[in-house]
Amino acid sequence: MSQKRSNLSSIRGSTVLVTGGNGAVGCNLVRRLLELSCNIVVLDDFSQSKKGNLPLDKNIKIIRGDIADEKTLNKTFATRYDYIFHLAARFANEMSVLNPIEDLRVNIQGTLQLLLHAAKQKTTRFLYSSSSSLYGPQKENVFTETLRPNPSTPYAVSKLAAEYYCSAIKKTCGIDYTIVRLSNSYGPFDPPGKFRNVIPNFFMSAMHNKHLTITGTGRETRDFTFVGDTVQGILLAITEPKAKNETFNLGTGKETSILSIAKLIMRITDSKSKIVFKPMRSFDHIKRRRMDIRKANKILGYRPTTSIQDGLKMTYEWFQKQHYD
Ligand SMILES: NC(=O)c1ccc[n+]([C@@H]2O[C@H](COP(=O)([O-])OP(=O)(O)OC[C@H]3O[C@@H](n4cnc5c(N)ncnc54)[C@H](O)[C@@H]3O)[C@@H](O)[C@H]2O)c1
Repeated sequence: MSQKRSNLSSIRGSTVLVTGGNGAVGCNLVRRLLELSCNIVVLDDFSQSKKGNLPLDKNIKIIRGDIADEKTLNKTFATRYDYIFHLAARFANEMSVLNPIEDLRVNIQGTLQLLLHAAKQKTTRFLYSSSSSLYGPQKENVFTETLRPNPSTPYAVSKLAAEYYCSAIKKTCGIDYTIVRLSNSYGPFDPPGKFRNVIPNFFMSAMHNKHLTITGTGRETRDFTFVGDTVQGILLAITEPKAKNETFNLGTGKETSILSIAKLIMRITDSKSKIVFKPMRSFDHIKRRRMDIRKANKILGYRPTTSIQDGLKMTYEWFQKQHYD
């Protein structure tokens, strides 16, 4: 892969808004922005994340509220932002199947409202955190940005529709955006829970010697990306001039089976758990997935460096300090 100088230092000292900044990816991003001496406003309604995710710091201001509420947005946009990182969203496929209307309200309408406010105040760049789920079932196992999306859940539809709004508002109001399509980000601050990701739920089960339940055969694969690499990709994307109004996959370019994730976690946690199998859920249509990250590598200089083994070990270190029942 080619080497490229990054423009990351251009964000140093900027005023930034992070929607969903208390969430799993958001609070890791905010920590990195603090290291870059940014003045940070976090807009989050804390519906999916708990208090205490963010450090107490004079350079972080938290606005607790809904991204689709105009009163909250007027208050939030009293500040002018150099950069906006839009990460707030309803999470994710399963929840969207249960409540597609709320998904539409937050993920589509909320994104549009943010874009309009950002355009009005002439924010330098709007980064939209999209999802690999919008590719849906494909003939190919490697997802390239040029593939025709085939969203198969309300969540995936909402992520795709919000992407279209980014380009429509650019055309009508002139705001520059960058879209990153994330793939199975994991790491510290990613909590377990009914609607949450497989890795934290496996850790919870393994640490309590409960069964690790795989829905499917376990041979299904995903492109699991350590959150530190995800955050690095996001920062490279928002600061790269050539990334204006472009879309990038952020993953590792590698696929790992769910069964091997379960086995690795059992080994790391020295668990006595058993692995059990359940039939796939009706909305699980994607058997194998890995992201083509050549565009991000070439234009952004994005190079994920964390192996799945190291990433899981760092996640375990974090889990050991948590108190989940
Ligand atoms: N984590 C992944 O693997 C992954 C994969 C693909 C895409 N994404 C996208 O990346 C973004 C961040 O994901 P994450 O894993 O950090 O999710 P998360 O659920 O951990 O964080 C989202 C945050 O948004 C907040 N939020 C939800 N609805 C809100 C609303 N109406 N108003 C204000 N805040 C609201 C939640 O409280 C939470 O803190 C999301 O847009 C998600 O769709 C994530």
